[in-house]
Amino acid sequence: AQDIWVAPSLLAADPLNFETESKSVEDAGADLHHVDVMDGHFVPNLTFGIPFVKALKKVSGIPLDVHIMISNPDEMAMEYVKAGADYLLFHVEAATHAHRLTQVIAEAGAKPGLAINPGTSLSLLEPLLPFVKMINVMSVNPGFGGQKFIRESLSRISWLRNEIEKRSLDMRIQVDGGVNKETVGSVVEAGADVLVAGTAVYGASDRKAAIELLKNQNS
Ligand code: DX5
Ligand code: ZN
Repeated sequence: AQDIWVAPSLLAADPLNFETESKSVEDAGADLHHVDVMDGHFVPNLTFGIPFVKALKKVSGIPLDVHIMISNPDEMAMEYVKAGADYLLFHVEAATHAHRLTQVIAEAGAKPGLAINPGTSLSLLEPLLPFVKMINVMSVNPGFGGQKFIRESLSRISWLRNEIEKRSLDMRIQVDGGVNKETVGSVVEAGADVLVAGTAVYGASDRKAAIELLKNQNS
């Protein structure tokens, strides 16, 4: 099996203590910090912005996986790259010039990625796959943590895994939403190798055990 990365979502952390919260998951074995940027327009919730990413970058010991759920990625994505995003994932539904944006992000030295909502056809990804390093398959509708995993996401992950193999692409598949000890086995089996987890990690009393459980799928 491939090596599995766990990316705890800071959306589920205590917002008054982001520094200690981020350190705690680093100590617990997190591979990336997943940063859910929401603009109150593309999604019905408002979270972090550019200054937050900049501040987190200064204290973080692991790469930042920045997922921008915003209406105008063409205009704003580069600001998040400059702020310190290592992976920058924008929504295929929101970008006007998705291909151009992947190029701009890569030229700036970050790893471009795409996120796709549960109700969006995977065919939109097809021409873009060679140009990205990460796909975020949303397994809930974006906007909030703690939602129920949509089972139909599994066949979408499998389709992507198949494309990667068939086309020998160098990219990872992350699954985002409702990943926990009940769902992780089937998610990994379907071919995901980056597990975004908010509630399942930050909500656990033992975060190290929670991350290990996700990595080993031994529920
Ligand atoms: C949803 C976000 C997710 C969310 C996952 O809009 O993109 O990253 O934080 O949270 P859980 O793991 O609690 O479903
Ligand atoms: Zn996310």
